[in-house]
Amino acid sequence: MIGLGTMGAGIVEVLAKAGHRVFGIDYDDRAVAGGRERLETSLDRAVQKGKLNPDERQAVVSRVSFGTDKAVLTGASVIIEAVSEKPELKQAVFAEIDAHAPADAILATNTSSLSITSIAAGTTRPDRVIGIHFFNPAPVQPLVEVIDTVLTDPAVIDRAMSFLQELGKRPIRCGDRAGFIVNSLLVGYLNAAVRTYADGRISREQLDAAMVEEAGYPMGPLALLDMIGIDVGHAVLVRMYDETKDRRHAPAPLLTQLLEAGLLGRKTGRGFYDYR
Ligand code: CAA
Repeated sequence: MIGLGTMGAGIVEVLAKAGHRVFGIDYDDRAVAGGRERLETSLDRAVQKGKLNPDERQAVVSRVSFGTDKAVLTGASVIIEAVSEKPELKQAVFAEIDAHAPADAILATNTSSLSITSIAAGTTRPDRVIGIHFFNPAPVQPLVEVIDTVLTDPAVIDRAMSFLQELGKRPIRCGDRAGFIVNSLLVGYLNAAVRTYADGRISREQLDAAMVEEAGYPMGPLALLDMIGIDVGHAVLVRMYDETKDRRHAPAPLLTQLLEAGLLGRKTGRGFYDYR
């Protein structure tokens, strides 16, 4: 697993709980320590809730090694990348994966907003590069989108589908289009919620409560944006808007301001709500 932010650490947990040996990699010691902490906090919560006993927690932790050295990729059968949604960064990470990974490995990106085709085309083995897109929180959400491109070897997709089913997830196949399936339907709604809130005639709490209590959503749209990350939501909208030119996907000005201000949601302690 490369990239140990919210999604990466959550995916490490899913893999290790399913019994896999996992290497969690990030670019420096601080980022690695952050990933380890995210995993341990999540496991501690599961123990407190009685969903995991202390021995099982220890077994999960013992299956995970953390570090910065990409040389471990030489022994990997499935490599999943979940670094920030920056095209140059993803290309650089995939160049390193390409240099180290075994010939038969599955190379996957968890990107929400970038073209899988362009990431694949930047490697020497585009037939083995696919999207494996988890939802936040990864340990909880069963759905995973498995994205192929015009360059993908169908056997790679079949293997990824079986792998995810064995993890207890519910994988669905989809093509490489902006937002894939879920985000293409979801982010227009989230963007509309930001515009509604910015009109100033409803509080964030009232708006979120309306969608939870009356419309039956598990959480309100502003709280959900804080959870998935303002940067991630914004990046998906930008890609959707670029591809569709549909005004509903032009990021709401308030969303862009939160991004510019570094108020990215739960991960920075503040977004629409204050978590500090
Ligand atoms: N890590 C691990 N487990 C977590 C968790 C986390 N970050 N957050 C919650 N959980 C677990 C809890 O332990 C709890 O498990 P049990 O019921 O087995 O005890 C369960 O999830 C429910 O949690 P809570 O009781 O604390 O809270 P809740 O009932 O309000 O549920 C929620 C929290 C699961 C996040 C729920 O509100 C929810 O499903 N929200 C919608 C999330 C969603 O839509 N995600 C998709 C976003 S789109 C995306 O991710 C794609 C993208 O590219 C942007």
